[in-house]
Amino acid sequence: MTVLIEPLRREDLPEVLAIEVASFAVPWTEEMFENELARGDLSEILIARLADAGNPPPVAGYICVWVVSDELHINNIAVDPRWRRRGIAGVLLEAALDHGRVRGARRAFLEVRVSNVAAQALYRRYRFEAAGIRKGYYDQPAEDAVIMKRERL
Ligand SMILES: CC(C)(COP(=O)(O)OP(=O)(O)OC[C@H]1O[C@@H](n2cnc3c(N)ncnc32)[C@H](O)[C@@H]1OP(=O)(O)O)[C@@H](O)C(=O)NCCC(=O)NCCS
Repeated sequence: MTVLIEPLRREDLPEVLAIEVASFAVPWTEEMFENELARGDLSEILIARLADAGNPPPVAGYICVWVVSDELHINNIAVDPRWRRRGIAGVLLEAALDHGRVRGARRAFLEVRVSNVAAQALYRRYRFEAAGIRKGYYDQPAEDAVIMKRERL
């Protein structure tokens, strides 16, 4: 399977929003993605396309990050439920870490629901470690976040 990583363009938003709605109880809205696109100084959204799965190749997942000073913040990542467990999130994460390195980031942070064992397993595989708990970080359902950190990008 060939995964193509590209920056998100406005015309990709319908596919991204469909994955977002399928992935989260409280999905980001179109306006939230638009706001990220407007903050190109800070924000980067990368999409993964499957080169061999159609013409044009469908969007299978995406990752949204900020580089703030020497920190990469991973704000959102999701993969289409039909294409999970094929390594796509790993490819997206590696691309985001590369983006951070190029922009001078030296460490990476993210928050993840305490119950989201799939995402925590993904992050641990990429050398993230639990660094604390944010009480009541999430709504619907209310839940704490695990803060995860990776030193030395
Ligand atoms: C978390 C998510 C992005 C992973 O996407 P993915 O493309 O399926 O992940 P990958 O195939 O790249 O997985 C890489 C590794 O992560 C771990 N992993 C991923 N999904 C897992 C699961 N359901 N259970 C246990 N480990 C999992 C495994 O170590 C996996 O390697 P393996 O398949 O060789 O065992 C996807 O499940 C998703 O979109 N979930 C809903 C949105 C979400 O929770 N986002 C994270 C918010 S913090």
